[in-house]
Amino acid sequence: MEREKVLLTEEQIKRQLDFCKKVSALLEDRPNRLAKVETFGCQQNVADGQRMMGMLQEMGFGFTEDEKQADVIVINTCAIRDHAEQRIYGLLGALTHAKKAKPEQVICLCGCMAQQQRVADKVKNSYRHVDLVFGPQAMWKFPELLHGVYQRHRRIFSIEDEHGTIAEGLPVVREGNVKAWVSIMYGCNNFCSYCIVPYVRGRERSRDAAEVVKECRELIESGVKEITLLGQNVNSYGKDLPEEMDFADLLAKINEIPGDYLIRFMTSHPKDASRKLLETMARSEHVAKQLHLPVQSGNNRVLKEMNRRYTRESYLELVRYARELMPEIALTSDIIIGFPGETEAEAMDTVSLVEEVRYDALFTFIYSPRPGTPAAKMPDPFTRAEKQVWFDRLLDAQNRISAEKHASFVGQSLRVLIDGVEEDSRWNLSSRTTGGRLVHLSGEESLVGKYCRVKITDSNTWAMFGEVEEILG
Ligand code: SAH
Ligand code: SF4
Ligand code: F3S
Repeated sequence: MEREKVLLTEEQIKRQLDFCKKVSALLEDRPNRLAKVETFGCQQNVADGQRMMGMLQEMGFGFTEDEKQADVIVINTCAIRDHAEQRIYGLLGALTHAKKAKPEQVICLCGCMAQQQRVADKVKNSYRHVDLVFGPQAMWKFPELLHGVYQRHRRIFSIEDEHGTIAEGLPVVREGNVKAWVSIMYGCNNFCSYCIVPYVRGRERSRDAAEVVKECRELIESGVKEITLLGQNVNSYGKDLPEEMDFADLLAKINEIPGDYLIRFMTSHPKDASRKLLETMARSEHVAKQLHLPVQSGNNRVLKEMNRRYTRESYLELVRYARELMPEIALTSDIIIGFPGETEAEAMDTVSLVEEVRYDALFTFIYSPRPGTPAAKMPDPFTRAEKQVWFDRLLDAQNRISAEKHASFVGQSLRVLIDGVEEDSRWNLSSRTTGGRLVHLSGEESLVGKYCRVKITDSNTWAMFGEVEEILG
Protein backbone atom coordinates (compact mmCIF):
# COMPACT_ATOMS: atom_id res chain seq x y z
CA MET A 1 0.00 0.00 0.00
CA GLU A 2 1.39 3.41 -0.95
CA ARG A 3 2.23 5.71 1.91
CA GLU A 4 0.10 8.58 0.49
CA LYS A 5 -2.99 6.41 0.66
CA VAL A 6 -2.30 5.33 4.24
CA LEU A 7 -1.67 8.77 5.71
CA LEU A 8 -4.81 10.88 5.81
CA THR A 9 -4.31 14.36 4.42
CA GLU A 10 -4.53 17.54 6.48
CA GLU A 11 -7.74 18.38 4.58
CA GLN A 12 -9.33 15.09 5.60
CA ILE A 13 -8.51 15.76 9.25
CA LYS A 14 -9.66 19.36 8.99
CA ARG A 15 -12.96 18.18 7.51
CA GLN A 16 -13.54 16.02 10.59
CA LEU A 17 -12.70 18.93 12.90
CA ASP A 18 -15.25 20.98 10.91
CA PHE A 19 -17.82 18.25 11.53
CA CYS A 20 -17.09 18.62 15.26
CA LYS A 21 -18.12 22.28 14.95
CA LYS A 22 -21.22 21.30 12.97
CA VAL A 23 -22.34 18.81 15.61
CA SER A 24 -21.71 21.47 18.22
CA ALA A 25 -23.93 23.89 16.27
CA LEU A 26 -26.70 21.28 15.85
CA LEU A 27 -26.73 20.71 19.61
CA GLU A 28 -26.64 24.38 20.53
CA ASP A 29 -29.80 24.00 22.60
CA ARG A 30 -28.05 21.45 24.86
CA PRO A 31 -25.16 23.44 26.32
CA ASN A 32 -24.53 20.90 29.08
CA ARG A 33 -24.44 17.86 26.81
CA LEU A 34 -22.73 14.78 28.17
CA ALA A 35 -21.16 11.65 26.69
CA LYS A 36 -20.26 8.31 28.19
CA VAL A 37 -17.42 6.36 26.55
CA GLU A 38 -17.02 2.79 27.74
CA THR A 39 -14.02 0.82 26.46
CA PHE A 40 -13.39 -2.94 26.54
CA GLY A 41 -10.40 -4.95 25.33
CA CYS A 42 -6.73 -4.14 24.99
CA GLN A 43 -4.70 -0.97 25.49
CA GLN A 44 -4.96 -0.22 21.80
CA ASN A 45 -8.69 0.07 22.32
CA VAL A 46 -8.16 2.23 25.41
CA ALA A 47 -6.00 4.55 23.29
CA ASP A 48 -8.76 4.64 20.64
CA GLY A 49 -11.34 5.44 23.33
CA GLN A 50 -9.22 8.41 24.43
CA ARG A 51 -9.22 9.68 20.82
CA MET A 52 -12.98 9.38 20.63
CA MET A 53 -13.25 11.34 23.87
CA GLY A 54 -11.00 13.96 22.29
CA MET A 55 -13.38 14.28 19.34
CA LEU A 56 -16.44 14.42 21.63
CA GLN A 57 -14.82 17.14 23.68
CA GLU A 58 -14.22 19.07 20.46
CA MET A 59 -18.00 18.72 19.82
CA GLY A 60 -18.69 20.37 23.16
CA PHE A 61 -19.48 17.27 25.23
CA GLY A 62 -18.57 16.85 28.87
CA PHE A 63 -18.25 13.33 30.27
CA THR A 64 -20.33 11.23 32.64
CA GLU A 65 -20.27 7.68 33.96
CA ASP A 66 -24.05 7.61 34.21
CA GLU A 67 -25.80 6.29 31.11
CA LYS A 68 -29.11 7.85 32.18
CA GLN A 69 -27.54 11.30 31.93
CA ALA A 70 -25.64 10.74 28.70
CA ASP A 71 -26.73 12.35 25.42
CA VAL A 72 -24.27 10.10 23.60
CA ILE A 73 -23.13 6.63 24.67
CA VAL A 74 -20.11 5.11 22.93
CA ILE A 75 -19.39 1.43 23.50
CA ASN A 76 -15.90 0.62 22.27
CA THR A 77 -15.84 -3.16 21.96
CA CYS A 78 -13.43 -6.11 21.78
CA ALA A 79 -13.89 -9.27 19.69
CA ILE A 80 -10.99 -11.39 20.89
CA ARG A 81 -13.10 -14.08 22.59
CA ASP A 82 -16.77 -15.02 22.49
CA HIS A 83 -17.19 -14.02 26.13
CA ALA A 84 -16.19 -10.43 25.25
CA GLU A 85 -18.94 -10.30 22.61
CA GLN A 86 -21.65 -11.85 24.79
CA ARG A 87 -20.97 -9.25 27.45
CA ILE A 88 -21.55 -6.46 24.95
CA TYR A 89 -24.88 -7.93 23.79
CA GLY A 90 -25.91 -8.02 27.46
CA LEU A 91 -24.90 -4.40 27.89
CA LEU A 92 -26.72 -3.33 24.72
CA GLY A 93 -29.86 -5.09 25.92
CA ALA A 94 -29.71 -3.23 29.22
CA LEU A 95 -29.36 0.12 27.44
CA THR A 96 -32.90 -0.08 26.07
CA HIS A 97 -34.05 1.31 29.45
CA ALA A 98 -31.76 4.34 29.33
CA LYS A 99 -32.90 5.09 25.80
CA LYS A 100 -36.62 4.72 26.64
CA ALA A 101 -36.21 7.27 29.40
CA LYS A 102 -34.25 9.60 27.11
CA PRO A 103 -35.37 9.02 23.49
CA GLU A 104 -33.02 11.63 22.02
CA GLN A 105 -30.05 9.65 23.33
CA VAL A 106 -27.61 8.42 20.62
CA ILE A 107 -26.05 4.99 21.16
CA CYS A 108 -22.85 4.16 19.24
CA LEU A 109 -21.22 0.75 18.95
CA CYS A 110 -17.62 0.79 17.74
CA GLY A 111 -14.35 -1.09 18.16
CA CYS A 112 -13.27 -4.51 16.92
CA MET A 113 -16.55 -6.36 17.43
CA ALA A 114 -18.41 -3.74 15.41
CA GLN A 115 -16.16 -4.24 12.37
CA GLN A 116 -17.72 -7.67 11.69
CA GLN A 117 -20.62 -8.03 9.26
CA ARG A 118 -22.39 -10.68 11.35
CA VAL A 119 -22.39 -8.33 14.34
CA ALA A 120 -23.63 -5.39 12.27
CA ASP A 121 -26.46 -7.57 10.93
CA LYS A 122 -27.47 -8.70 14.38
CA VAL A 123 -27.45 -5.15 15.73
CA LYS A 124 -29.39 -3.92 12.71
CA ASN A 125 -32.17 -6.43 13.29
CA SER A 126 -32.23 -7.07 17.02
CA TYR A 127 -30.85 -3.95 18.72
CA ARG A 128 -32.82 -1.21 17.03
CA HIS A 129 -31.99 1.36 19.69
CA VAL A 130 -28.37 1.43 18.49
CA ASP A 131 -27.96 4.43 16.17
CA LEU A 132 -24.39 4.23 14.92
CA VAL A 133 -22.12 1.25 14.24
CA PHE A 134 -18.55 1.63 12.99
CA GLY A 135 -15.30 -0.33 13.17
CA PRO A 136 -11.77 0.78 14.14
CA GLN A 137 -11.02 1.46 10.48
CA ALA A 138 -13.65 4.23 10.32
CA MET A 139 -12.94 5.70 13.74
CA TRP A 140 -11.29 8.82 12.35
CA LYS A 141 -14.65 9.68 10.69
CA PHE A 142 -16.57 9.56 13.98
CA PRO A 143 -17.49 13.31 13.88
CA GLU A 144 -18.90 12.98 10.36
CA LEU A 145 -20.82 9.80 11.24
CA LEU A 146 -22.30 11.29 14.40
CA HIS A 147 -23.24 14.42 12.47
CA GLY A 148 -25.07 12.17 9.99
CA VAL A 149 -27.07 10.54 12.77
CA TYR A 150 -28.09 13.90 14.23
CA GLN A 151 -28.85 15.57 10.94
CA ARG A 152 -30.61 12.77 9.11
CA HIS A 153 -32.25 11.13 12.13
CA ARG A 154 -31.20 7.80 10.65
CA ARG A 155 -29.22 4.80 11.81
CA ILE A 156 -25.74 4.61 10.24
CA PHE A 157 -23.60 1.50 9.73
CA SER A 158 -20.03 2.12 8.57
CA ILE A 159 -18.09 -1.12 8.63
CA GLU A 160 -16.72 -1.30 5.10
CA ASP A 161 -13.26 -2.83 4.97
CA GLU A 162 -11.01 0.12 4.20
CA HIS A 163 -7.37 -0.32 3.30
CA GLY A 164 -6.34 1.02 6.69
CA THR A 165 -5.29 4.58 7.39
CA ILE A 166 -3.33 6.68 9.85
CA ALA A 167 -4.91 9.85 11.20
CA GLU A 168 -2.52 12.34 12.79
CA GLY A 169 -3.60 15.50 14.55
CA LEU A 170 -6.96 14.44 15.97
CA PRO A 171 -7.51 15.54 19.57
CA VAL A 172 -7.18 13.16 22.52
CA VAL A 173 -8.38 13.17 26.14
CA ARG A 174 -5.90 11.31 28.35
CA GLU A 175 -6.73 9.91 31.75
CA GLY A 176 -4.39 11.04 34.51
CA ASN A 177 -1.03 12.63 33.92
CA VAL A 178 1.36 9.94 35.15
CA LYS A 179 1.08 7.34 32.40
CA ALA A 180 0.21 7.58 28.72
CA TRP A 181 -0.39 5.23 25.80
CA VAL A 182 1.11 6.01 22.42
CA SER A 183 0.11 3.91 19.40
CA ILE A 184 3.08 3.51 17.10
CA MET A 185 1.37 1.28 14.56
CA TYR A 186 -2.03 -0.08 13.72
CA GLY A 187 -3.34 -3.37 12.34
CA CYS A 188 -1.75 -6.79 12.12
CA ASN A 189 -0.45 -8.92 9.23
CA ASN A 190 0.32 -12.09 11.14
CA PHE A 191 -2.92 -14.03 10.84
CA CYS A 192 -2.32 -16.36 13.76
CA SER A 193 -4.91 -19.00 12.95
CA TYR A 194 -7.05 -18.44 16.07
CA CYS A 195 -7.09 -14.64 16.01
CA ILE A 196 -9.69 -12.16 14.76
CA VAL A 197 -7.51 -9.03 15.04
CA PRO A 198 -6.09 -8.96 11.46
CA TYR A 199 -9.66 -9.16 10.11
CA VAL A 200 -11.02 -6.30 12.20
CA ARG A 201 -8.02 -3.99 12.45
CA GLY A 202 -6.77 -4.18 8.88
CA ARG A 203 -3.20 -4.27 7.57
CA GLU A 204 -0.11 -3.19 9.44
CA ARG A 205 0.79 0.47 9.12
CA SER A 206 3.40 2.44 11.06
CA ARG A 207 3.18 6.04 12.17
CA ASP A 208 6.06 8.27 11.08
CA ALA A 209 8.90 8.14 13.61
CA ALA A 210 8.98 11.94 13.79
CA GLU A 211 5.29 12.01 14.82
CA VAL A 212 5.83 9.35 17.50
CA VAL A 213 8.92 11.08 18.91
CA LYS A 214 7.10 14.44 18.89
CA GLU A 215 4.14 12.99 20.81
CA CYS A 216 6.47 11.32 23.36
CA ARG A 217 8.47 14.52 23.81
CA GLU A 218 5.32 16.56 24.47
CA LEU A 219 4.08 13.99 27.00
CA ILE A 220 7.40 13.91 28.84
CA GLU A 221 7.62 17.71 28.85
CA SER A 222 4.10 17.84 30.32
CA GLY A 223 5.27 15.65 33.22
CA VAL A 224 4.18 12.14 32.12
CA LYS A 225 6.48 9.57 33.75
CA GLU A 226 5.66 6.41 31.82
CA ILE A 227 4.83 5.93 28.18
CA THR A 228 3.71 2.59 26.78
CA LEU A 229 4.22 2.24 23.03
CA LEU A 230 1.43 0.20 21.49
CA GLY A 231 1.05 -2.10 18.52
CA GLN A 232 -0.18 -5.66 17.93
CA ASN A 233 3.38 -6.52 16.96
CA VAL A 234 5.67 -3.58 17.66
CA ASN A 235 8.56 -5.55 16.17
CA SER A 236 7.05 -5.06 12.71
CA TYR A 237 7.33 -1.30 13.17
CA GLY A 238 8.85 0.48 10.17
CA LYS A 239 8.53 -2.32 7.62
CA ASP A 240 6.12 -0.14 5.64
CA LEU A 241 7.97 3.17 6.08
CA PRO A 242 9.92 4.76 3.24
CA GLU A 243 12.99 5.31 5.44
CA GLU A 244 15.21 2.60 6.96
CA MET A 245 13.79 2.35 10.44
CA ASP A 246 12.90 -0.52 12.72
CA PHE A 247 11.46 -0.72 16.22
CA ALA A 248 14.88 -0.81 17.89
CA ASP A 249 15.83 2.40 16.02
CA LEU A 250 12.60 4.04 17.19
CA LEU A 251 13.27 3.06 20.82
CA ALA A 252 16.80 4.48 20.59
CA LYS A 253 15.40 7.76 19.21
CA ILE A 254 12.80 8.10 21.98
CA ASN A 255 15.43 7.26 24.57
CA GLU A 256 17.33 10.43 23.56
CA ILE A 257 14.53 12.66 24.90
CA PRO A 258 15.81 14.24 28.12
CA GLY A 259 13.86 13.78 31.38
CA ASP A 260 12.97 11.33 34.14
CA TYR A 261 10.68 8.79 32.50
CA LEU A 262 10.28 5.15 31.44
CA ILE A 263 9.32 3.67 28.11
CA ARG A 264 7.45 0.37 27.95
CA PHE A 265 6.01 -1.34 24.89
CA MET A 266 3.64 -4.10 23.88
CA THR A 267 3.22 -6.46 22.18
CA SER A 268 6.39 -8.13 20.89
CA HIS A 269 5.88 -11.08 18.57
CA PRO A 270 8.66 -13.63 19.27
CA LYS A 271 9.17 -14.34 15.56
CA ASP A 272 10.32 -10.73 15.02
CA ALA A 273 11.95 -9.94 18.38
CA SER A 274 15.54 -9.42 17.24
CA ARG A 275 18.84 -9.53 19.09
CA LYS A 276 19.20 -5.89 18.05
CA LEU A 277 15.98 -5.08 19.93
CA LEU A 278 17.23 -6.76 23.11
CA GLU A 279 20.63 -5.04 22.82
CA THR A 280 18.94 -1.66 22.32
CA MET A 281 16.74 -2.26 25.37
CA ALA A 282 19.75 -3.20 27.45
CA ARG A 283 21.64 0.01 26.71
CA SER A 284 18.72 2.48 26.72
CA GLU A 285 18.41 3.97 30.19
CA HIS A 286 14.77 4.99 29.75
CA VAL A 287 13.55 1.66 28.40
CA ALA A 288 12.04 -0.46 31.20
CA LYS A 289 13.64 -3.87 31.53
CA GLN A 290 10.35 -5.58 30.89
CA LEU A 291 9.27 -7.71 27.97
CA HIS A 292 5.80 -9.01 27.19
CA LEU A 293 6.63 -11.86 24.82
CA PRO A 294 3.51 -13.97 24.22
CA VAL A 295 4.44 -17.60 23.61
CA GLN A 296 0.86 -18.96 23.26
CA SER A 297 2.06 -22.60 23.42
CA GLY A 298 5.14 -24.58 24.39
CA ASN A 299 4.55 -27.32 21.80
CA ASN A 300 5.99 -27.08 18.29
CA ARG A 301 3.12 -28.84 16.52
CA VAL A 302 0.58 -26.53 18.14
CA LEU A 303 2.74 -23.46 17.41
CA LYS A 304 2.81 -24.47 13.76
CA GLU A 305 -0.96 -24.95 13.65
CA MET A 306 -1.33 -21.57 15.29
CA ASN A 307 0.82 -20.08 12.50
CA ARG A 308 3.13 -18.45 15.03
CA ARG A 309 6.28 -19.07 12.99
CA TYR A 310 8.77 -19.76 15.82
CA THR A 311 9.62 -22.86 17.81
CA ARG A 312 9.84 -23.65 21.50
CA GLU A 313 13.63 -23.79 21.07
CA SER A 314 13.99 -20.44 19.28
CA TYR A 315 11.70 -18.84 21.87
CA LEU A 316 13.75 -20.18 24.77
CA GLU A 317 16.94 -18.95 23.10
CA LEU A 318 15.44 -15.45 22.89
CA VAL A 319 14.58 -15.57 26.59
CA ARG A 320 18.10 -16.79 27.41
CA TYR A 321 19.71 -13.94 25.47
CA ALA A 322 17.37 -11.34 27.04
CA ARG A 323 18.36 -12.56 30.51
CA GLU A 324 22.05 -12.66 29.62
CA LEU A 325 21.87 -8.97 28.64
CA MET A 326 19.40 -7.91 31.36
CA PRO A 327 19.47 -10.32 34.30
CA GLU A 328 16.78 -8.30 36.12
CA ILE A 329 14.32 -8.33 33.17
CA ALA A 330 10.65 -9.00 33.99
CA LEU A 331 9.06 -11.39 31.50
CA THR A 332 5.36 -11.86 30.86
CA SER A 333 3.40 -13.85 28.32
CA ASP A 334 -0.01 -14.75 26.89
CA ILE A 335 -1.01 -18.39 26.67
CA ILE A 336 -3.89 -20.22 25.02
CA ILE A 337 -4.94 -23.61 26.34
CA GLY A 338 -7.21 -25.88 24.31
CA PHE A 339 -6.35 -24.83 20.75
CA PRO A 340 -8.31 -27.18 18.42
CA GLY A 341 -6.77 -30.65 18.56
CA GLU A 342 -4.28 -29.81 21.30
CA THR A 343 -3.79 -32.94 23.42
CA GLU A 344 -3.20 -33.16 27.14
CA ALA A 345 0.49 -33.94 26.55
CA GLU A 346 0.81 -30.89 24.29
CA ALA A 347 -0.86 -28.66 26.85
CA MET A 348 1.56 -30.02 29.46
CA ASP A 349 4.45 -28.93 27.16
CA THR A 350 3.16 -25.42 27.70
CA VAL A 351 3.16 -25.95 31.47
CA SER A 352 6.75 -27.24 31.28
CA LEU A 353 7.79 -24.18 29.24
CA VAL A 354 6.24 -21.95 31.90
CA GLU A 355 8.22 -23.83 34.57
CA GLU A 356 11.36 -23.40 32.53
CA VAL A 357 10.99 -19.68 31.78
CA ARG A 358 9.55 -18.75 35.18
CA TYR A 359 7.54 -15.74 33.99
CA ASP A 360 6.76 -12.85 36.30
CA ALA A 361 3.13 -12.96 35.23
CA LEU A 362 0.90 -14.64 32.66
CA PHE A 363 -2.30 -13.79 30.83
CA THR A 364 -3.99 -17.13 30.26
CA PHE A 365 -6.95 -17.96 28.05
CA ILE A 366 -9.00 -20.97 27.07
CA TYR A 367 -9.30 -21.09 23.28
CA SER A 368 -12.45 -19.44 21.94
CA PRO A 369 -13.43 -20.07 18.29
CA ARG A 370 -13.73 -16.86 16.26
CA PRO A 371 -15.96 -17.18 13.19
CA GLY A 372 -14.00 -16.43 10.01
CA THR A 373 -10.60 -17.59 11.33
CA PRO A 374 -8.93 -20.83 10.09
CA ALA A 375 -8.83 -22.39 13.57
CA ALA A 376 -12.60 -22.09 13.92
CA LYS A 377 -12.91 -24.71 11.13
CA MET A 378 -10.47 -27.20 12.71
CA PRO A 379 -11.78 -30.28 14.54
CA ASP A 380 -11.92 -29.52 18.26
CA PRO A 381 -12.39 -32.92 19.95
CA PHE A 382 -11.69 -32.06 23.60
CA THR A 383 -14.40 -30.82 25.92
CA ARG A 384 -14.41 -27.57 27.79
CA ALA A 385 -14.17 -29.55 31.07
CA GLU A 386 -11.01 -31.34 29.90
CA LYS A 387 -9.44 -28.05 28.82
CA GLN A 388 -10.37 -26.49 32.15
CA VAL A 389 -8.37 -29.17 34.01
CA TRP A 390 -5.25 -28.40 31.92
CA PHE A 391 -5.86 -24.69 32.35
CA ASP A 392 -6.02 -25.05 36.14
CA ARG A 393 -2.71 -26.91 36.14
CA LEU A 394 -1.15 -24.04 34.24
CA LEU A 395 -2.56 -21.52 36.71
CA ASP A 396 -1.31 -23.53 39.68
CA ALA A 397 2.20 -23.61 38.21
CA GLN A 398 2.24 -19.87 37.49
CA ASN A 399 0.74 -18.90 40.85
CA ARG A 400 3.45 -20.83 42.63
CA ILE A 401 6.17 -19.19 40.50
CA SER A 402 4.71 -15.69 40.98
CA ALA A 403 4.52 -16.19 44.75
CA GLU A 404 8.13 -17.44 44.87
CA LYS A 405 9.37 -14.55 42.74
CA HIS A 406 7.57 -11.94 44.82
CA ALA A 407 8.82 -13.50 48.07
CA SER A 408 12.41 -13.30 46.81
CA PHE A 409 12.15 -9.48 46.84
CA VAL A 410 11.17 -9.23 50.54
CA GLY A 411 13.85 -7.26 52.37
CA GLN A 412 15.12 -5.58 49.18
CA SER A 413 14.91 -1.89 48.24
CA LEU A 414 13.33 -1.22 44.84
CA ARG A 415 12.66 1.86 42.74
CA VAL A 416 8.93 2.30 41.95
CA LEU A 417 6.64 4.83 40.32
CA ILE A 418 3.60 5.53 42.50
CA ASP A 419 0.74 5.44 40.02
CA GLY A 420 -2.56 5.47 41.84
CA VAL A 421 -4.76 5.61 44.92
CA GLU A 422 -6.63 2.49 46.07
CA GLU A 423 -9.70 1.90 48.21
CA ASP A 424 -7.82 -0.19 50.77
CA SER A 425 -7.21 1.81 53.97
CA ARG A 426 -4.10 -0.19 54.93
CA TRP A 427 -2.48 -0.08 51.47
CA ASN A 428 -3.82 3.10 49.93
CA LEU A 429 -1.26 3.57 47.15
CA SER A 430 -0.32 1.40 44.21
CA SER A 431 3.02 1.47 42.49
CA ARG A 432 5.00 -0.42 39.86
CA THR A 433 8.64 -1.40 39.80
CA THR A 434 10.73 -0.71 36.70
CA GLY A 435 9.94 -4.28 35.63
CA GLY A 436 6.20 -3.58 36.01
CA ARG A 437 5.66 -5.56 39.24
CA LEU A 438 2.84 -4.33 41.48
CA VAL A 439 3.78 -2.98 44.95
CA HIS A 440 1.11 -1.83 47.44
CA LEU A 441 2.16 0.99 49.78
CA SER A 442 0.70 3.29 52.38
CA GLY A 443 1.39 7.01 52.29
CA GLU A 444 0.30 10.49 51.27
CA GLU A 445 -1.80 10.76 48.12
CA SER A 446 0.48 13.58 47.00
CA LEU A 447 3.09 10.92 46.24
CA VAL A 448 1.15 9.82 43.13
CA GLY A 449 3.32 10.51 40.08
CA LYS A 450 6.60 10.34 42.05
CA TYR A 451 9.45 7.89 41.78
CA CYS A 452 10.34 6.46 45.20
CA ARG A 453 12.67 3.94 46.73
CA VAL A 454 10.65 1.41 48.75
CA LYS A 455 11.54 -1.42 51.08
CA ILE A 456 9.62 -4.62 50.33
CA THR A 457 8.15 -5.97 53.57
CA ASP A 458 5.71 -8.66 52.43
CA SER A 459 4.32 -10.39 49.34
CA ASN A 460 1.69 -12.77 47.99
CA THR A 461 0.89 -14.41 44.65
CA TRP A 462 -0.31 -11.23 42.99
CA ALA A 463 1.75 -8.39 44.48
CA MET A 464 4.32 -7.12 46.94
CA PHE A 465 3.85 -4.76 49.89
CA GLY A 466 6.31 -2.13 51.02
CA GLU A 467 7.26 1.08 52.81
CA VAL A 468 8.47 4.28 51.23
CA GLU A 469 12.13 4.86 52.16
CA GLU A 470 12.97 7.81 49.98
CA ILE A 471 11.22 10.11 47.51
CA LEU A 472 13.34 10.27 44.37
CA GLY A 473 11.28 12.91 42.54
N1 SAH B 1 -0.83 -9.16 19.19
C1 SAH B 1 -0.66 -9.85 20.39
C2 SAH B 1 -1.91 -10.39 20.99
C3 SAH B 1 -3.19 -9.66 20.94
S1 SAH B 1 -4.59 -10.54 21.50
C4 SAH B 1 0.30 -11.02 20.14
O1 SAH B 1 0.45 -11.48 19.04
O2 SAH B 1 0.85 -11.51 21.08
C5 SAH B 1 -4.17 -10.92 23.16
C6 SAH B 1 -4.16 -12.37 23.46
O3 SAH B 1 -5.43 -12.94 23.37
C7 SAH B 1 -3.31 -13.22 22.54
O4 SAH B 1 -1.96 -13.14 22.82
C8 SAH B 1 -3.88 -14.59 22.78
O5 SAH B 1 -3.22 -15.23 23.85
C9 SAH B 1 -5.32 -14.32 23.16
N2 SAH B 1 -6.23 -14.74 22.11
C10 SAH B 1 -6.30 -14.26 20.84
N3 SAH B 1 -7.26 -14.92 20.15
C11 SAH B 1 -7.80 -15.83 20.99
C12 SAH B 1 -8.82 -16.83 20.87
N4 SAH B 1 -9.47 -17.02 19.73
N5 SAH B 1 -9.11 -17.58 21.96
C13 SAH B 1 -8.44 -17.41 23.12
N6 SAH B 1 -7.47 -16.50 23.30
C14 SAH B 1 -7.15 -15.71 22.25
FE1 SF4 C 1 -3.54 -11.82 16.68
FE2 SF4 C 1 -1.28 -12.98 16.03
FE3 SF4 C 1 -1.77 -10.49 15.21
FE4 SF4 C 1 -1.28 -10.99 17.77
S1 SF4 C 1 0.14 -11.28 16.08
S2 SF4 C 1 -2.91 -9.71 16.94
S3 SF4 C 1 -2.24 -12.98 18.10
S4 SF4 C 1 -2.86 -12.34 14.60
FE1 F3S D 1 -9.86 -6.90 21.48
FE2 F3S D 1 -9.51 -5.54 19.28
FE3 F3S D 1 -7.74 -5.35 21.21
S1 F3S D 1 -10.26 -7.61 19.41
S2 F3S D 1 -7.86 -7.34 22.18
S3 F3S D 1 -9.84 -4.71 21.34
S4 F3S D 1 -7.34 -5.30 19.04
